[in-house]
Amino acid sequence: MERTFIAFVLAFLLAGANCLAAESGTVDPINGKPCYKCHRSKVSGPNIHPALADNQCEPCHATTGGDHKMKLGLYNVKDRSAKLCWECHDSLVGQKSVHPIITEEGCLGCHAPHSSTLGKLLKATPPVLCFRCHEQSLVDEKETQKATNFRDGTQSLHFVHAGKNGIPCLTCHDQHASSQLHLLRTKGTNGKEAVTITYTATDKGGNCTVSCHDPLGYERK
Ligand code: HEC
Ligand code: HEC
Ligand code: HEC
Ligand code: HEC
Ligand code: HEC
Ligand code: HEC
Repeated sequence: MERTFIAFVLAFLLAGANCLAAESGTVDPINGKPCYKCHRSKVSGPNIHPALADNQCEPCHATTGGDHKMKLGLYNVKDRSAKLCWECHDSLVGQKSVHPIITEEGCLGCHAPHSSTLGKLLKATPPVLCFRCHEQSLVDEKETQKATNFRDGTQSLHFVHAGKNGIPCLTCHDQHASSQLHLLRTKGTNGKEAVTITYTATDKGGNCTVSCHDPLGYERK
């Protein structure tokens, strides 16, 4: 009899603990409800940002000050710049080149903060992602005097590499930052094999020592 009672109490406590576990995450102090229950789209999708583990919102959102449904914007994100993200991710400041959009606007031009159907929380995959902000003429124009600085005379070397030969942007560029100019990686991959790049800029062009071909330079006209 006594044992059944203890088992009953235990089951009750465990169920209670389970309930509490299901209610994990940041809670709205006004109505006592977890935020995610009203904002389910933020915690669903094939790829959820680990920052929202256990349905936490507080790392990035304010959650005090009154009723946010009366005063829209009250619980808005604390900061839309890269600083928010650099609270947990390594800061890129100090690298020789940093993707200017990161210092200008932050990370949200390319990443969703909560979840995404794409890997790495991306809003689109390269090169489509890149052409949200950069002109397609960068790789489309065979001859140019302005579509790109990566040209020899007027021959676009972006066309030669990324256009005609379909070499991915990220074989040469790092999406975030690099110890070389123009976001040029020191190490990359063309999908099949490792690629190394040593780049130096010259007055009107640049020199590349790469694992893909003999050292070559280009000079703009
Ligand atoms: C009872 C449901 C409910 C709860 C709980 C709740 N919200 Fe909201 N929230 C809403 C509604 C409704 C709106 C206004 C419509 C919309 O933008 O979705 C809103 C709007 C917002 C907005 C956008 C405001 C804007 O300017 O558009 C943010 C950010 C937000 N909520 C964050 C939170 C956070 C963080 C929590 C937990 C601390 C939370 N919410 C809890 C229902 C809720
Ligand atoms: C890693 C930081 C981070 C976490 C954690 C986070 N958010 Fe956000 N949230 C953002 C950012 C950044 C924006 C602004 C997005 C924009 O303006 O494009 C935002 C915007 C929102 C908005 C406004 C609508 C929208 O999508 O722009 C709502 C609502 C919201 N978040 C709810 C939540 C809830 C609920 C949680 C917790 C379950 C949460 N967020 C956790 C970073 C975060
Ligand atoms: C509260 C801490 C925290 C904050 C703030 C935060 N992150 Fe994260 N983020 C993580 C953790 C933990 C991981 C998983 C480990 C890793 O990849 O570093 C992660 C992973 C990621 C990933 C890789 C996801 C994948 O599928 O591999 C991206 C992209 C990302 N975060 C972008 C952002 C952006 C953009 C912001 C700012 C809006 C941000 N993070 C803010 C903690 C955070
Ligand atoms: C110009 C677009 C762009 C911007 C802006 C951007 N990212 Fe990314 N990020 C990417 C791409 C593309 C990948 C995936 C790279 C791959 O698949 O190798 C990525 C991958 C990541 C990853 C996964 C680990 C890694 O390095 O591959 C994290 C974490 C991340 N980004 C965080 C951030 C943070 C934090 C910011 C802002 C400081 C930011 N990103 C700004 C495009 C961007
Ligand atoms: C949200 C907008 C945005 C996206 C998306 C974006 N960029 Fe950029 N990028 C910029 C801005 C702004 C600049 C500075 C002005 C310029 O050079 O066009 C820049 C500059 C650059 C530079 C020159 C950096 C230097 O130091 O000379 C390279 C290289 C570059 N981006 C590569 C990429 C690649 C590769 C992608 C796709 C993975 C991409 N960008 C996606 C906004 C973006
Ligand atoms: C073979 C290596 C390589 C590939 C692949 C490549 N780039 Fe570049 N990119 C460069 C070099 C080198 C520069 C520096 C040109 C200069 O300033 O002399 C550059 C410069 C840039 C710039 C600065 C503006 C300009 O055109 O001078 C942008 C933006 C850019 N690349 C975007 C991209 C995008 C987007 C892709 C993919 C569609 C891509 N790159 C593919 C090597 C490459």
